[in-house]
Amino acid sequence: MRRIRIAPSVLAWDLGDLNEAVAISVKGGADQVHLDVIDGHFAPNITFGPGTVRALRRRCDLKFDTHLMIDEPTLYAEKFIDAGSDLLTFHAEVLTGGRFDELHALVRSKGRQMGLALKPATELPEWAASRLDKVDALVVMTVNPGFSGQAMDMSTMPKLERINGMLEARGGSVDIEIDGGVEPENVHEVVSRGGNVLVAGAGVYSKKDPAVAIRALRERAEEAAGRA
Ligand code: DX5
Ligand code: ZN
Repeated sequence: MRRIRIAPSVLAWDLGDLNEAVAISVKGGADQVHLDVIDGHFAPNITFGPGTVRALRRRCDLKFDTHLMIDEPTLYAEKFIDAGSDLLTFHAEVLTGGRFDELHALVRSKGRQMGLALKPATELPEWAASRLDKVDALVVMTVNPGFSGQAMDMSTMPKLERINGMLEARGGSVDIEIDGGVEPENVHEVVSRGGNVLVAGAGVYSKKDPAVAIRALRERAEEAAGRA
């Protein structure tokens, strides 16, 4: 079983006080902090760019899990790498095998990790299935990209099972990151199907004590992994 990791998504916090959001993640013992970059084209919201990532990086060492929900990742990937992102996740919907290979070469040349994300309605494309050995994390989105606070779309569960089956058959070293609507109540659903990195926006930052919420999610997930 891959290790459970908790990745709070700062999109659910006050965007004017992101240093505090990151500090809360550190305090709660999060494994990484999830930074949602949205360009207003790929999804109907606009968040922040590499300048903000760089500013956050100055104040902490926590792993930065940067989720690029942008139409033109090849134009911006290097900027987010240089700003201090550790894991760069790109969306399959805007890539081809060739574009993926270029991005992969860039990410690896800088010693960073590579993630590949799928919107709820997107199946793993052929070109991606043949490149799984190049991916550190497969990000299964369980809400449509754009906003925090949406309910998890359970119709994505069969896809999660298929992806988990495919990765297990290959040795199972790729992380499966679940992004969207993760709450203590549905942690068992996703962890028992192979999810091991849990992104949580509202599931952390809308709780009375977000640092405690991070620990509670981890406990639930570890329990579910034990039972899976
Ligand atoms: C949605 C983002 C998610 C979102 C998660 O576009 O990719 O990371 O912030 O927030 P919750 O956990 O509240 O759904
Ligand atoms: Zn995200």
